[in-house]
Amino acid sequence: MKRKVLKVIDGETVFPPPIWMMRQAGRHLPEYRATRKNAGGFLDLCYSPDFAVEVTLQPIRRYGFDAAILFSDILVVPHVLGRDLRFEEGRGPLMTPITTQEINDLEINGAALKLEAVYETVRRLRKELPEETTLLGFCGAPWTVATYMIAGHGTPDQAPARLFAYQHPEAFEKLLMDLAEVSAEYLIRQYEAGADALQIFDSWSGVLDEDCFERFCIKPVRYIVDKVRAVHPEARIIGFPKGAGTLYTDYREKTGVNMLGLDWSVPYSFAKTLQKQGAVQGNLDPLRLVAGGKALDEGVDRILDNLGQGPLVFNLGHGITPQAPIDHVHQMINRIRSRG
Ligand code: CP3
Repeated sequence: MKRKVLKVIDGETVFPPPIWMMRQAGRHLPEYRATRKNAGGFLDLCYSPDFAVEVTLQPIRRYGFDAAILFSDILVVPHVLGRDLRFEEGRGPLMTPITTQEINDLEINGAALKLEAVYETVRRLRKELPEETTLLGFCGAPWTVATYMIAGHGTPDQAPARLFAYQHPEAFEKLLMDLAEVSAEYLIRQYEAGADALQIFDSWSGVLDEDCFERFCIKPVRYIVDKVRAVHPEARIIGFPKGAGTLYTDYREKTGVNMLGLDWSVPYSFAKTLQKQGAVQGNLDPLRLVAGGKALDEGVDRILDNLGQGPLVFNLGHGITPQAPIDHVHQMINRIRSRG
């Protein structure tokens, strides 16, 4: 049996399209909030296979999505590289900003092995998930992960990382390639543990000029894709270069990812062009899910009307927000599935 999301990644049209949501396991679910309380900290959730399996399965049980995404975070990679990482309620991730000297001293050998708890989570998930549910592994793209390592926290336009890259080009390039190396190994191990496909989150690619986009986004992601495919030529990889605009075309061609995750600012006409070159995933504005009602129905219909005749995985254009009501998620799913 070939799982629906994998059919779409391979270029088949499946209608109604398979559905999942970025950040589907998380704070919009009361059962997630309860498990998180029991686990202690957020990282305890990520590093405990018992808890991580449970929260990965929660949205599948509740909504019957076509794909589950491994519960972890993109910042576990810098964490196993020895960077401190804290998650404070309401403040997002906090790290100590990395210096050029610390970049030169980074030791990448064996780092991916320290994420054994994540691979164990993947192995257990593949056994516990329904047969027809696709299991997605993931990592952050080197640029996006680097932005948090340099600033030490989230920022609106990643000015600290952009400036650092101009001022310390050599150290910055080393950082990106070190992250690419560890991330590739991390994805290979997730794949070998049973992930059906792998998504690379390039959430901050939209703040770069064309030259930097090429060097900081495309180049290290190309390296990861090549390295994974050198071991597993058939591996299916989804790229999500949020905010890439017209550079989405280059991103697929030059990195070799199989499917493109589209953010909600991508116009339908351009999305259709991208879809002629391969599968697309997206791209509902997460705030339509918060609003519900007509705004939600119209958003869903437009995506189905414009992209439903080609290879599409229905998703949001970015992660679900904690305030999105559960009823609205049901409304979205019912609307999509009733179009069959
Ligand atoms: O359901 C899933 O999507 C799987 C798990 C997942 C998480 N983070 C759990 C999480 C995934 C795939 C991620 C990816 C991630 N993490 C990205 C890329 C995707 C994106 O949203 O752009 C980024 C940039 C991060 C870094 C990160 N982790 C931030 C900025 C934050 C704080 C913002 C927030 O939503 O709270 C986190 C914390 C985080 N990661 C939470 C969850 C469920 C919330 C933590 C909590 O429970 O308090």
